[in-house]
Amino acid sequence: MWKGRFTHQTADLVQRYGESVSYDWRLFPHDIAGSIAHARAQMNASLLTEEEFAQIESGLREIQREIEAGEFEFSSELEDIHMNIEAALTRKIGEAGSKLHTARSRNDQVATDTRLYCRSAIDAIVSLSTGLQKTLLKQSEKHAATILPGYTHLQRGQPVTAGHHLLAYVEMLERDKQRLTDCRKRLNVCPLGSGALAGSTINLDRNAIAHELGFDGVTTNSMDAIADRDYIAEFLFVLSLLGAHLSRFSEDLILWCSTEFGFATLSDRHTTGSSLMPQKKNPDVCELTRGKTGRLVGNLVALLTALKGLPLTYNRDLQEDKEPLFDSVETLTLALEVNAEMVSSMDLQIENCREAAQDPLLLATDLADYLVRKGVPFRNAHELVGKAVASAEEKNTTLDALDLSLISDQFGNDAGGVFDLERALRARSNQGSPSIENVLGEIQRWKADLA
Ligand code: ARG
Repeated sequence: MWKGRFTHQTADLVQRYGESVSYDWRLFPHDIAGSIAHARAQMNASLLTEEEFAQIESGLREIQREIEAGEFEFSSELEDIHMNIEAALTRKIGEAGSKLHTARSRNDQVATDTRLYCRSAIDAIVSLSTGLQKTLLKQSEKHAATILPGYTHLQRGQPVTAGHHLLAYVEMLERDKQRLTDCRKRLNVCPLGSGALAGSTINLDRNAIAHELGFDGVTTNSMDAIADRDYIAEFLFVLSLLGAHLSRFSEDLILWCSTEFGFATLSDRHTTGSSLMPQKKNPDVCELTRGKTGRLVGNLVALLTALKGLPLTYNRDLQEDKEPLFDSVETLTLALEVNAEMVSSMDLQIENCREAAQDPLLLATDLADYLVRKGVPFRNAHELVGKAVASAEEKNTTLDALDLSLISDQFGNDAGGVFDLERALRARSNQGSPSIENVLGEIQRWKADLA
């Protein structure tokens, strides 16, 4: 492509070092769409005849079919997807093909392609996230009244329901979707026309190109447009955070599936056995999600590190944006799919959950609230209940079996009523709290929102 200036071929090692077609082939549908829009603008500027445009368009569509059918032969000598497609086009249709690169550089071309790639990846990931939310929602509905302990510091804290716990992840995914949508808005502008860095002396209708490609507008500074990879960094951050949410969910499930907790059982299809220990049923999917999240974060850091020292505008370092991007998109896509499948076939052990929530210590806060209602300042109430807990521990008995009047005469005969688990849950009725009624209300809201 640059034979005019050079007398020697690129060294083999340099070709191997610099080729990107082995991974950026993924951009092909976007590269082709971009080239067709660009060629149409060339025709409208009388740089191509209608006949030449038709040749370019049908040639490119044929190349797209060949790639989709696995019949296209990629050549690493042609470095990247852009040059592979352009060379194939010129081989197919001759001279018209060599006109395509007029008023365009691979720099604005690759920036356009990756924006289009991110846009369609965002759409797919938003819809997979909605799928996982719906699966979580179904389980929440099934378990709106399944009482289990809520934890802080991985110590049993207060009673909640499994439905409430699972809905927490629906909330997280919703925020992730908002971030994705926001990122999509910012990236949806077209860099084509920015050329190598300083636009072009040949002016094409940039807005028409942008419109054809579904962009909301065009970039407004050619140098920024060529150098900018903010949209990839943002996208990788959102994917990392989405990964972190799935990873935290995985950790919850790993605990829930342990013999120690015994709250959940995953299906045989979503667990693995041990080659040595016959009794094992391992939550590998959860562990893989937790592990792969490390890579998602790594991909973000790799990109930010590559960007931080770059002067304007294009530097070849920017080619290193793609592997992290593709890896994060593909890793997370699969993670969302497999998690949705796994969650839909998960069983919760209602009895074990309830058993774990039976401990009256989970209602120690409720006992303090009982005193508050009698007019005791909360700090004093907290101290009195703390004494009761210590005394129960000392006497090797449970909080609900203790004679509370020995601790303080503020405890009346009705204090024991605090230890009714159903009542305790019902009392948690403020917005956002886990009373069954609230959880059912939230489920209805989510159902309407996600429909
Ligand atoms: N494959 C290149 C990349 O992804 C395309 C842009 C090449 N531009 C250049 N001036 N070498 O970054």
